[in-house]
Amino acid sequence: MQPALRAACGRSSSSARASIRFPCATRLPTPAFVCSKSITPATQAWKRERLKEAGLALPASLTFVPIDFERQSLAKGLAGAGFRSDCPAFFQWLGVVVYLSREAILVTLDVIASIPASAVVFEYTEPFENHSPEGCTRLMAAAERAAARGEPWLSFFNPTELSAILRGKGFTDVEDLRVAEMVKRYPSALATGLSISPGGHVVRAEKRRMM
Ligand SMILES: C[S@@+](CC[C@H](N)C(=O)[O-])C[C@H]1O[C@@H](n2cnc3c(N)ncnc32)[C@H](O)[C@@H]1O
Repeated sequence: MQPALRAACGRSSSSARASIRFPCATRLPTPAFVCSKSITPATQAWKRERLKEAGLALPASLTFVPIDFERQSLAKGLAGAGFRSDCPAFFQWLGVVVYLSREAILVTLDVIASIPASAVVFEYTEPFENHSPEGCTRLMAAAERAAARGEPWLSFFNPTELSAILRGKGFTDVEDLRVAEMVKRYPSALATGLSISPGGHVVRAEKRRMM
Protein backbone atom coordinates (compact mmCIF):
# COMPACT_ATOMS: atom_id res chain seq x y z
CA MET A 1 0.00 0.00 0.00
CA GLN A 2 1.28 3.47 -0.83
CA PRO A 3 2.35 5.40 2.31
CA ALA A 4 -0.14 8.20 1.64
CA LEU A 5 -3.01 5.75 1.39
CA ARG A 6 -1.87 3.91 4.50
CA ALA A 7 -1.70 7.17 6.40
CA ALA A 8 -5.22 8.07 5.29
CA CYS A 9 -6.47 4.68 6.51
CA GLY A 10 -4.61 4.68 9.75
CA ARG A 11 -3.48 1.07 9.27
CA SER A 12 -2.57 -1.45 6.57
CA SER A 13 -4.16 -4.70 5.48
CA SER A 14 -3.75 -7.37 2.86
CA SER A 15 -7.24 -8.89 2.95
CA ALA A 16 -8.62 -10.06 -0.39
CA ARG A 17 -12.17 -10.21 -1.69
CA ALA A 18 -13.32 -12.22 -4.68
CA SER A 19 -16.03 -11.13 -7.05
CA ILE A 20 -18.19 -13.37 -9.23
CA ARG A 21 -20.27 -12.13 -12.11
CA PHE A 22 -22.83 -13.81 -14.29
CA PRO A 23 -23.10 -13.13 -18.03
CA CYS A 24 -26.85 -12.43 -17.91
CA ALA A 25 -26.80 -11.33 -21.53
CA THR A 26 -26.48 -14.95 -22.65
CA ARG A 27 -29.97 -15.65 -21.32
CA LEU A 28 -31.81 -12.71 -22.88
CA PRO A 29 -34.30 -13.45 -25.65
CA THR A 30 -34.20 -9.87 -26.97
CA PRO A 31 -31.20 -8.26 -28.71
CA ALA A 32 -28.33 -7.89 -26.26
CA PHE A 33 -25.07 -6.01 -26.63
CA VAL A 34 -21.96 -6.54 -24.55
CA CYS A 35 -19.94 -3.33 -24.59
CA SER A 36 -16.48 -3.28 -23.11
CA LYS A 37 -12.96 -2.32 -23.81
CA SER A 38 -11.42 -5.61 -24.89
CA ILE A 39 -8.08 -5.30 -23.20
CA THR A 40 -6.45 -7.94 -25.36
CA PRO A 41 -7.84 -10.50 -27.81
CA ALA A 42 -6.49 -13.14 -25.40
CA THR A 43 -8.62 -11.78 -22.53
CA GLN A 44 -11.70 -11.87 -24.69
CA ALA A 45 -10.91 -15.40 -25.89
CA TRP A 46 -10.45 -16.44 -22.24
CA LYS A 47 -13.84 -15.00 -21.30
CA ARG A 48 -15.54 -16.83 -24.17
CA GLU A 49 -13.80 -20.06 -23.17
CA ARG A 50 -15.08 -19.70 -19.60
CA LEU A 51 -18.64 -19.24 -20.90
CA LYS A 52 -18.26 -22.41 -22.95
CA GLU A 53 -16.95 -24.31 -19.96
CA ALA A 54 -19.94 -23.12 -17.93
CA GLY A 55 -22.25 -24.47 -20.63
CA LEU A 56 -23.57 -21.03 -21.55
CA ALA A 57 -24.12 -20.87 -25.28
CA LEU A 58 -23.95 -17.43 -26.87
CA PRO A 59 -27.31 -16.74 -28.59
CA ALA A 60 -27.51 -15.23 -32.04
CA SER A 61 -29.18 -12.17 -30.47
CA LEU A 62 -25.96 -11.31 -28.59
CA THR A 63 -23.50 -8.84 -30.11
CA PHE A 64 -20.08 -7.95 -28.70
CA VAL A 65 -19.32 -4.24 -29.15
CA PRO A 66 -15.76 -3.18 -28.28
CA ILE A 67 -16.03 0.33 -26.81
CA ASP A 68 -13.55 2.36 -24.81
CA PHE A 69 -15.82 4.66 -22.80
CA GLU A 70 -12.94 7.12 -22.38
CA ARG A 71 -12.45 7.57 -26.10
CA GLN A 72 -15.59 6.45 -27.89
CA SER A 73 -19.24 7.33 -27.70
CA LEU A 74 -21.57 4.61 -26.45
CA ALA A 75 -24.26 6.00 -28.74
CA LYS A 76 -22.09 5.66 -31.85
CA GLY A 77 -20.78 2.24 -30.89
CA LEU A 78 -24.25 0.86 -30.25
CA ALA A 79 -25.74 2.46 -33.36
CA GLY A 80 -23.00 0.85 -35.45
CA ALA A 81 -23.95 -2.53 -33.99
CA GLY A 82 -27.65 -2.21 -34.82
CA PHE A 83 -28.95 -0.97 -31.48
CA ARG A 84 -32.30 0.87 -31.71
CA SER A 85 -32.34 3.86 -29.45
CA ASP A 86 -36.10 4.31 -29.91
CA CYS A 87 -36.83 1.05 -28.05
CA PRO A 88 -36.76 0.53 -24.28
CA ALA A 89 -33.30 -0.52 -23.13
CA PHE A 90 -31.77 -1.91 -19.98
CA PHE A 91 -28.05 -1.33 -19.27
CA GLN A 92 -26.20 -3.64 -16.90
CA TRP A 93 -23.03 -1.69 -16.10
CA LEU A 94 -21.74 -3.59 -13.09
CA GLY A 95 -18.07 -3.55 -12.21
CA VAL A 96 -17.05 -0.83 -14.65
CA VAL A 97 -17.79 2.68 -13.32
CA VAL A 98 -14.97 2.79 -10.77
CA TYR A 99 -12.44 2.27 -13.59
CA LEU A 100 -13.65 5.27 -15.58
CA SER A 101 -13.02 8.99 -15.34
CA ARG A 102 -15.93 11.07 -14.04
CA GLU A 103 -16.29 12.68 -17.45
CA ALA A 104 -16.64 9.33 -19.23
CA ILE A 105 -19.24 8.20 -16.68
CA LEU A 106 -21.33 11.36 -17.02
CA VAL A 107 -21.20 11.32 -20.82
CA THR A 108 -22.23 7.65 -20.90
CA LEU A 109 -25.10 8.31 -18.48
CA ASP A 110 -26.23 11.11 -20.83
CA VAL A 111 -26.44 8.59 -23.67
CA ILE A 112 -28.47 6.17 -21.55
CA ALA A 113 -30.73 9.00 -20.37
CA SER A 114 -31.32 10.09 -23.96
CA ILE A 115 -33.15 6.81 -24.68
CA PRO A 116 -36.89 7.35 -24.13
CA ALA A 117 -37.38 4.37 -21.78
CA SER A 118 -34.12 3.31 -20.26
CA ALA A 119 -32.81 1.78 -17.07
CA VAL A 120 -29.27 1.31 -15.85
CA VAL A 121 -27.82 -0.67 -12.98
CA PHE A 122 -24.27 -0.02 -11.87
CA GLU A 123 -21.96 -0.26 -8.91
CA TYR A 124 -20.04 2.62 -7.45
CA THR A 125 -17.67 3.25 -4.60
CA GLU A 126 -17.81 5.98 -1.98
CA PRO A 127 -14.62 8.03 -1.42
CA PHE A 128 -12.09 6.35 0.90
CA GLU A 129 -12.64 8.91 3.63
CA ASN A 130 -16.32 7.95 3.95
CA HIS A 131 -15.41 4.52 5.34
CA SER A 132 -14.45 3.29 8.79
CA PRO A 133 -10.68 2.84 9.25
CA GLU A 134 -11.05 -0.95 8.75
CA GLY A 135 -13.31 -0.53 5.71
CA CYS A 136 -10.99 2.09 4.28
CA THR A 137 -8.00 -0.21 4.68
CA ARG A 138 -9.80 -3.08 2.90
CA LEU A 139 -10.95 -0.79 0.12
CA MET A 140 -7.53 0.72 -0.43
CA ALA A 141 -5.96 -2.72 -0.55
CA ALA A 142 -8.50 -3.70 -3.23
CA ALA A 143 -7.77 -0.47 -5.11
CA GLU A 144 -4.06 -1.17 -4.96
CA ARG A 145 -4.53 -4.70 -6.30
CA ALA A 146 -6.62 -3.31 -9.15
CA ALA A 147 -3.99 -0.67 -9.91
CA ALA A 148 -1.28 -3.36 -9.89
CA ARG A 149 -3.31 -5.23 -12.55
CA GLY A 150 -3.29 -2.06 -14.64
CA GLU A 151 -6.90 -1.14 -13.78
CA PRO A 152 -6.70 1.83 -11.36
CA TRP A 153 -9.85 3.09 -9.67
CA LEU A 154 -10.55 6.57 -10.99
CA SER A 155 -13.97 7.68 -9.77
CA PHE A 156 -15.83 7.79 -6.48
CA PHE A 157 -19.21 9.27 -5.60
CA ASN A 158 -21.11 10.36 -2.53
CA PRO A 159 -24.62 8.85 -2.52
CA THR A 160 -26.53 12.15 -2.31
CA GLU A 161 -24.37 13.70 -5.01
CA LEU A 162 -24.89 10.73 -7.34
CA SER A 163 -28.62 10.68 -6.77
CA ALA A 164 -28.79 14.38 -7.69
CA ILE A 165 -26.71 13.76 -10.82
CA LEU A 166 -29.00 10.93 -11.94
CA ARG A 167 -32.19 12.87 -11.25
CA GLY A 168 -30.71 15.86 -13.07
CA LYS A 169 -30.23 13.67 -16.14
CA GLY A 170 -33.91 12.69 -16.12
CA PHE A 171 -33.85 9.41 -14.22
CA THR A 172 -37.04 9.71 -12.18
CA ASP A 173 -36.75 6.44 -10.27
CA VAL A 174 -33.42 6.05 -8.47
CA GLU A 175 -32.69 3.31 -5.95
CA ASP A 176 -29.33 3.00 -4.21
CA LEU A 177 -28.58 -0.12 -2.17
CA ARG A 178 -25.63 -0.53 0.17
CA VAL A 179 -24.07 -3.94 0.72
CA ALA A 180 -25.97 -4.48 4.00
CA GLU A 181 -29.27 -3.73 2.25
CA MET A 182 -28.44 -6.12 -0.58
CA VAL A 183 -27.61 -8.87 1.92
CA LYS A 184 -30.96 -8.28 3.62
CA ARG A 185 -32.90 -8.29 0.37
CA TYR A 186 -31.15 -11.22 -1.32
CA PRO A 187 -30.06 -13.48 1.56
CA SER A 188 -30.41 -16.75 -0.33
CA ALA A 189 -28.31 -15.63 -3.30
CA LEU A 190 -25.58 -14.27 -1.07
CA ALA A 191 -25.63 -17.34 1.16
CA THR A 192 -24.34 -19.40 -1.77
CA GLY A 193 -20.93 -17.79 -1.31
CA LEU A 194 -21.41 -15.13 -3.96
CA SER A 195 -19.41 -12.16 -2.80
CA ILE A 196 -20.07 -8.56 -3.68
CA SER A 197 -17.20 -6.67 -5.22
CA PRO A 198 -15.77 -3.71 -3.32
CA GLY A 199 -18.11 -1.28 -5.07
CA GLY A 200 -20.17 -0.93 -1.92
CA HIS A 201 -23.28 0.41 -3.68
CA VAL A 202 -25.51 -0.80 -6.47
CA VAL A 203 -27.73 1.81 -8.09
CA ARG A 204 -30.76 1.32 -10.29
CA ALA A 205 -31.85 4.38 -12.24
CA GLU A 206 -34.84 4.38 -14.54
CA LYS A 207 -36.37 7.02 -16.73
CA ARG A 208 -39.70 5.25 -16.61
CA ARG A 209 -40.82 2.13 -14.82
CA MET A 210 -40.17 -0.76 -17.20
CA MET A 211 -41.72 -3.54 -15.09
C1 LIG B 1 -13.81 -6.06 -13.16
S1 LIG B 1 -14.28 -6.08 -14.86
C2 LIG B 1 -16.02 -6.37 -14.70
C3 LIG B 1 -16.78 -6.25 -15.96
C4 LIG B 1 -18.04 -7.06 -16.15
N1 LIG B 1 -19.06 -6.76 -15.19
C5 LIG B 1 -17.74 -8.52 -16.23
O1 LIG B 1 -18.36 -9.28 -15.51
O2 LIG B 1 -16.92 -8.92 -17.04
C6 LIG B 1 -14.03 -4.42 -15.31
C7 LIG B 1 -14.42 -4.14 -16.72
O3 LIG B 1 -14.32 -2.74 -16.95
C8 LIG B 1 -14.06 -2.60 -18.32
N2 LIG B 1 -13.49 -1.28 -18.58
C9 LIG B 1 -12.52 -0.65 -17.88
N3 LIG B 1 -12.21 0.53 -18.48
C10 LIG B 1 -13.01 0.62 -19.57
C11 LIG B 1 -13.16 1.59 -20.60
N4 LIG B 1 -12.41 2.69 -20.62
N5 LIG B 1 -14.06 1.36 -21.57
C12 LIG B 1 -14.82 0.24 -21.56
N6 LIG B 1 -14.74 -0.72 -20.62
C13 LIG B 1 -13.83 -0.53 -19.64
C14 LIG B 1 -13.06 -3.70 -18.65
O4 LIG B 1 -13.13 -4.04 -20.00
C15 LIG B 1 -13.55 -4.83 -17.76
O5 LIG B 1 -14.32 -5.74 -18.49
